[in-house]
Amino acid sequence: MFQLNALFFYATIAIVLNAIPSGSEDPSRFVCRLQDPPNQCGEFCLTALMPLIDHIAKHQEQWKTCNLDNGLTKAKLEEIQGRQTDIRKQIESQEPSLTKSWKKIISEDIGDRINRMESKQLKMEGLLSGIQEAVTSIKNDIRRWRISQKFKLIGSKYLYIENDFKANWTTALSACKQMGGNLASISDGDDFNAIVSKLNQNESYKIGINDLAEKYVFISVSSGKKAPFLKWKPGEPRYNHEDQRCVTIHNGGMWVDGCTAFHKFICEADDNTL
Ligand SMILES: *[C@@H]1O[C@H](CO)[C@@H](O)[C@H](O)[C@H]1NC(C)=O
Ligand SMILES: *[C@@H]1O[C@H](CO)[C@@H](O)[C@H](O)[C@H]1NC(C)=O
Repeated sequence: MFQLNALFFYATIAIVLNAIPSGSEDPSRFVCRLQDPPNQCGEFCLTALMPLIDHIAKHQEQWKTCNLDNGLTKAKLEEIQGRQTDIRKQIESQEPSLTKSWKKIISEDIGDRINRMESKQLKMEGLLSGIQEAVTSIKNDIRRWRISQKFKLIGSKYLYIENDFKANWTTALSACKQMGGNLASISDGDDFNAIVSKLNQNESYKIGINDLAEKYVFISVSSGKKAPFLKWKPGEPRYNHEDQRCVTIHNGGMWVDGCTAFHKFICEADDNTL
């Protein structure tokens, strides 16, 4: 097997070397030079290689023909190149004005578009702020309506008197806040009398005044300032215990009571201009 392969290999090299042309030699060189093919490299070798050799020879022939045509091709090439140069010159001569008009078209278009977009955006912003105003106004209306369902005008303020359940200071405060208000403060004697007239006898009502921060300094929780009006019962404020720092109304007068004590309470609306 090895011997057969080796024979095939050397035969191939020999034939191919003979077939390679050098320079402008006679095309007849590209014909297989095996004098006695069957004996020189065997039947198989010949059958396998002859098409290859013929193929190479054919290409060489074509190259030669091509070279013969070179004069003609060159003229054609030169003609094409000439035309290309002409076209390039034409384009170059028109380029400045073309560029100018393109720029004009593009800039006008984009400018228009931007203007249109800006005016649309302005319209949308206008609409949006209109909607926002409407939403705010509706929210306020709802808030006012909800408050007005709870709070009634007593004296100069909208108040809610809780008679149904009792609470300590913290729970009463958070209940008032949940309604949209605060524990009530008293502005003056007229308001105080108006409130007292609505309260049940013998009941204690927590209001939004305490001296938790500093003893004897009574602060309104809604304003954070000193309470503008106080009407003590005789002997008050009297501290039976140190935690009696929350002001309570009882039978037309005020006293200090434990902040943890459970009492009915009075809320005021945040917005008293309902
Ligand atoms: C309030 O308390 C007083 C004295 O304890 C009593 O006479 C009166 O009937 C009570 N009033 C009410 C409405 O409970
Ligand atoms: C107030 O009362 C609530 C229950 O109603 C309770 O959980 C809370 O601890 C009390 N707070 C104070 C300071 O007494």
